[in-house]
Amino acid sequence: MGNTVIIGAQWGDEGKGKIVDLLSEHADFVVRFQGGNNAGHTMVVNGKEIISHLIPSGIIQQKKCFIGNGVVVDPFVLLDEIDYLLKNGIDASAKMLKISNRAHLIMPYHRRIDSAREDKIGAQKIGTTGRGIGPCYEDKAARRGIRFCDLLDFDLFKEKVRAVLDEKNFYLQHYFKTETLDPETLIREFESIRDRLIPYIDDVSVILDEGIKNGKTLLFEGAQGTHLDIEHGTYPFVTSSSVVSGNAANGSGVGPACFDEIIGIVKAYATRVGEGPFPTELFDDIGDRLQKTGSEFGATTGRKRRCGWIDMVVLRNAAKLNSLSGLAVTKLDVLDGLDEINICIGYEHKGKTITNFPAEIKILQECIPVYETHPGWKQDISKVREFKDLPVNARKYLARLEELSEVKIKIISVGPGREATIIKERIFK
Ligand code: IMP
Repeated sequence: MGNTVIIGAQWGDEGKGKIVDLLSEHADFVVRFQGGNNAGHTMVVNGKEIISHLIPSGIIQQKKCFIGNGVVVDPFVLLDEIDYLLKNGIDASAKMLKISNRAHLIMPYHRRIDSAREDKIGAQKIGTTGRGIGPCYEDKAARRGIRFCDLLDFDLFKEKVRAVLDEKNFYLQHYFKTETLDPETLIREFESIRDRLIPYIDDVSVILDEGIKNGKTLLFEGAQGTHLDIEHGTYPFVTSSSVVSGNAANGSGVGPACFDEIIGIVKAYATRVGEGPFPTELFDDIGDRLQKTGSEFGATTGRKRRCGWIDMVVLRNAAKLNSLSGLAVTKLDVLDGLDEINICIGYEHKGKTITNFPAEIKILQECIPVYETHPGWKQDISKVREFKDLPVNARKYLARLEELSEVKIKIISVGPGREATIIKERIFK
């Protein structure tokens, strides 16, 4: 396998964790490059469910894992996750995991501002995960963020915390009318975890570069999905980072020429958590059925996911934005037993046909999906392991997705476990 980037093609929760876990076997390094613990990657290993929020899913395969400069890290959550993995027999010590010295820290005030803001704006809320992701990226862009390298010089760290809290406390007290944070208490909290964190801090960009020069295979693990991208998603109902493949380079400190494969993960239908437009959303029995059969609950917040038909305007957009070289279609088995399956091939808006993803939220909300209807397959495919053994209607459905997206399907997932996978085209030896 060459250096591979895994990207969500829809609105996140496409099942990236399972595919990363599967491909990790063929990688030496697994790297996260954006987002934070807003992500939730669920893997089923030997019948046991393991959820990682921050640490790359490759840790399950005990590969060397890296948290790149583009990730925002809540250090308390990180330490809890390290302990959780250890309890499950997975080594996540500093031997296995490195965090970029340039990565920004999610601070307790980021979490507090995230939820206070959502409460204050009420009906207009974005439906964030409440993990402080947005406020942390805001501070990064405003150049008042605190980075992991600041923990190495604790006097400087204290100075920064005191200065930044001066501003945050004013904001918390007078704008949000909520509790402030005591800088000395916060500093003491960090003092108590600093020694555990320091061995993990390193220059990830340099280690990855050395790895590339020494022939190591890198797997880049995207979080969220293309349509939650800060630049290209359904703004403002997006996350605060760039989630597309281009940012796999920037967010980990490697050059963009090092990628050999860019795999888009796409669910065989569509889901979304939180607010924001979702043209193919279903409000009927089929939507309920997809939600129940697919166990569509957010891995991070436990919220029910909204469900709908697969949308080719969305998938084609993802193919374009990410230079997808292949697709992994997940949860195909969830469609088992349906009489008919719809594929959205475009939108109708005020008498016009739209085939490119619109920037305007209002237009997107008004778009009526144009569907192509395909016959379903009335059988259980969860035990199928070879493409040729899939029912003919399932193969036709997949062929149509390939045709409309102009991207080859390389992997098909028919169940949560590693074994419930059909490799249609090998991307590894
Ligand atoms: P934030 O990333 O917590 O700021 O949330 C912004 C939006 O992105 C909300 O609609 C979240 O539900 C959504 N979101 C963030 N992370 C994920 C994810 O991993 N999967 C799906 N949706 C996500």
